[in-house]
Amino acid sequence: MRRPIMAGNWKMYKNARETAEFIERFKPLVSKMDGCEIVVFPAAINIPAAVAAAGDSNVGVGGQNIYWGKEGAFTGEISADMLHAAGAGWVLVGHSERRHTVCHEADADVLKKTQAALAAGLKPVVCVGERLEEHKAGKTGEVLVRQFAAGVAGLTEEQFAQIVIAYEPVWAIGTGQTATPEIASSAHQLIRSEAEKRFGTEAANRLRILYGGSVKPDNIDGLMRQPEIDGALVGGASLDPESFFKIVSVAAPAR
Ligand code: PGA
Repeated sequence: MRRPIMAGNWKMYKNARETAEFIERFKPLVSKMDGCEIVVFPAAINIPAAVAAAGDSNVGVGGQNIYWGKEGAFTGEISADMLHAAGAGWVLVGHSERRHTVCHEADADVLKKTQAALAAGLKPVVCVGERLEEHKAGKTGEVLVRQFAAGVAGLTEEQFAQIVIAYEPVWAIGTGQTATPEIASSAHQLIRSEAEKRFGTEAANRLRILYGGSVKPDNIDGLMRQPEIDGALVGGASLDPESFFKIVSVAAPAR
């Protein structure tokens, strides 16, 4: 059985003090929850504060992005080693806001970043998902196949075994318009079948696929009832400890 992951992507919210305060309030709420993995992704500058506040609790900490180079003249970038040395255990790769909205990252960048993350000992959460116009044009499958082929299929079997994929339809992110559990589930099935073709049935069955896009305390239950959905990547609703706690607490009992 796949162990669920409940993750909070904090984007460009919270300073170091607010980051630590969240974790101090959140930690006791989830301290007995061993049915899932819990990770928060604060802004890079707040990783040390998050790591210190999380201590040896069951709250993991990850970065939102890395650059694939080991070091060099890459002004403003952060390497996977730097993130790892700061205490992060995870990293988001290829979030749609980096692919489309802000930084125009290409599918091929996603592969390089994923490989760099793995080489540094970080667990990558590789984000995929179609934009609104692609969704409307019935091109979801095509986009997911392309993103998988360029961003994931180039991994070795050993590398693939260590990644997590997050399906985040861009039209559902920050819009309040969640994909229905059925839509999310069929996208997850498609991703898993791509994984099966490339890496085999066993590896595909072990792959954890998270859903992200307007996950809230009142819609997480239906999503987590889908056997194909192995957790959630939560943006806005993860910024408040009580709200994120409500979401996380659905993961274990629903399985
Ligand atoms: P949202 O963001 O939950 O605010 O839609 C999800 C994400 O971008 O990971």
